[in-house]
Amino acid sequence: MKLNIGVIFGGNSTEHEISIISAVQAINNMDKDKYNVIPIYLSKDSKLYYSEDYKKVENFKNLSSAMKMGTEVLLTKKNGELVLIKDSFPFKVIKNIDVIFPILHGYNTEDGTIAGYLEMLGVPYCESDIYASAIGQDKILQKMVLKESGVRVCEYRYFYESDYLKDQEKVLANVMELPFPLIIKPARQGSSVGIGVAHNKEELIAKIEEALEYDEKILVEEVVVDLKELNISVLGDNSSYELSDIEEVYGKDEILSYQDKYMSGAKGASKGMASTGRKIPADIDKNIQKEMEDMALKAAKALNISGVVRIDFMLDKKSNKLYLNELNIIPGSLAFYLWKSKNVEYKELLDRVINIGIKKFQNKNKKLSSFETNVLESFNGTKGVKK
Ligand SMILES: Nc1ncnc2c1ncn2[C@@H]1O[C@H](COP(=O)(O)OP(=O)(O)O)[C@@H](O)[C@H]1O
Ligand SMILES: [Mg+2]
Repeated sequence: MKLNIGVIFGGNSTEHEISIISAVQAINNMDKDKYNVIPIYLSKDSKLYYSEDYKKVENFKNLSSAMKMGTEVLLTKKNGELVLIKDSFPFKVIKNIDVIFPILHGYNTEDGTIAGYLEMLGVPYCESDIYASAIGQDKILQKMVLKESGVRVCEYRYFYESDYLKDQEKVLANVMELPFPLIIKPARQGSSVGIGVAHNKEELIAKIEEALEYDEKILVEEVVVDLKELNISVLGDNSSYELSDIEEVYGKDEILSYQDKYMSGAKGASKGMASTGRKIPADIDKNIQKEMEDMALKAAKALNISGVVRIDFMLDKKSNKLYLNELNIIPGSLAFYLWKSKNVEYKELLDRVINIGIKKFQNKNKKLSSFETNVLESFNGTKGVKK
């Protein structure tokens, strides 16, 4: 019997469109003999829509017509089964779903929001859990956990908008303990949105103000000037992780911009992350490769990631020092292009990620999550528990 896989994508994130590209790519690569794939589009205003026409990226050129094309649905449980119900009278079940495959990027989605929603529903899903997802999204929390786990990260400072409004000079003085040039990032965005480089105090203020338009939590870190950007993908769960090839990615600007990441293909954005300028395998020394693999595995364990993720590194070509830059819990294009030379075709990669999601659900269900006794049976209102 075929499994019904619901692929959720879109969402209220600056990476909404990138998620559509990643999801449509994945939908069209899932094994049709094993799975019925059900596309579920999450609009920017958090409504769910279903349509078989969502299997084509052209149908998303205009987002409001994409919504009109679909049926507005609710994702809920009925008689213990996960179902899509038409969100208007007569509220008919239109699809049964066995497993959810979230392919969403960024804040409000990939950051544990969707994982939490799916945990609430009590269904198997193919993504890391809430904790890994949240830490994966917050570039500051991520650095704290990684540093504690013995993974090298750039020197950094962070602050909140409230600190900045209260005492701008104090915040600037703290940040300027680090040497220029500095890179300023909204803590929980992605795709280089709101990121800028500053070479002096004036630019620093301007870039902070730009970053504050996207997030109230700001990260400032030292710039790796002589930079080589290297990425690796990790597949598995805490019982065993596999490592992909390493890629080197190139950008035209000082930092790899949104343009570089998604718009560099001849046909615009339709190829997603798979269209960035890259070299696979990267041209690096064996010892750098080994160090990167060790750091990737340490990070994977520390966060307890599961499924397929991409971990991005920065190599300082002068000092030969390697830094972990960030984790992508649901990577663009699911990083499928990094697995090809490992003889893992996209179809197989998707199969493996689906199986990891099912196994995670089964293992979780074996653990106790409540006690048989109910303390509320003897609860005596505001007087507390009767002895
Ligand atoms: N410390 C740094 N030094 C030099 N370049 C950096 C640094 N941090 C980020 N960058 C550049 O900015 C890009 C985006 O930063 P990143 O932290 O990966 O954010 P995003 O989540 O938006 O991808 C990186 O791909 C890299 O090109
Ligand atoms: Mg990045």
